[in-house]
Amino acid sequence: MATKKTIDDLLADEIKDLYSAEKQLTKAIPKMAKGSTNPQLRAAFEGHLKETENQVARLEKVAEILQIKPTGKKCAGMEGVIEEGAEALEEEGEEAILDIGIIGAGSRVEHYEMAGYLTAISLARQTGATDVVALLNQSLAEEENAEKTLRKIAAGLIKSAPAEV
Ligand SMILES: [Fe+2]
Ligand SMILES: [Fe+2]
Repeated sequence: MATKKTIDDLLADEIKDLYSAEKQLTKAIPKMAKGSTNPQLRAAFEGHLKETENQVARLEKVAEILQIKPTGKKCAGMEGVIEEGAEALEEEGEEAILDIGIIGAGSRVEHYEMAGYLTAISLARQTGATDVVALLNQSLAEEENAEKTLRKIAAGLIKSAPAEV
């Protein structure tokens, strides 16, 4: 556990946490894409995988600016969220229903990431690292977009999914 005395210490820790989360996602998102039946959903995951790889590179750039190492921390929260996503992928049943479940897991991932980026951005802003703020904001916008896309696909699937009335 790192000693936290200043905003810079906490920011460094948040960046390490995000780095671990994004790295885990580069392995988890392909599984979510593969496990999705709806072609639109699959494409959304595949597109976001590319963004995620970029976000990893962006965090490496952030770490370079802050003169820290991005490695050395494991984001236990994301590990848990991904674990739940893996459960959604193992379910059996109606394709649309299973896809909606996978979207629920994906949406949790995006919200978790958004919370991390929002925290890091507010800390970076306070330290005056404007270039770091700009980089983190780019990733935040991508997470927000990904969440919106998932929500839209879910709305369509829910409308046409079988239900007991
Ligand atoms: Fe991400
Ligand atoms: Fe994301």
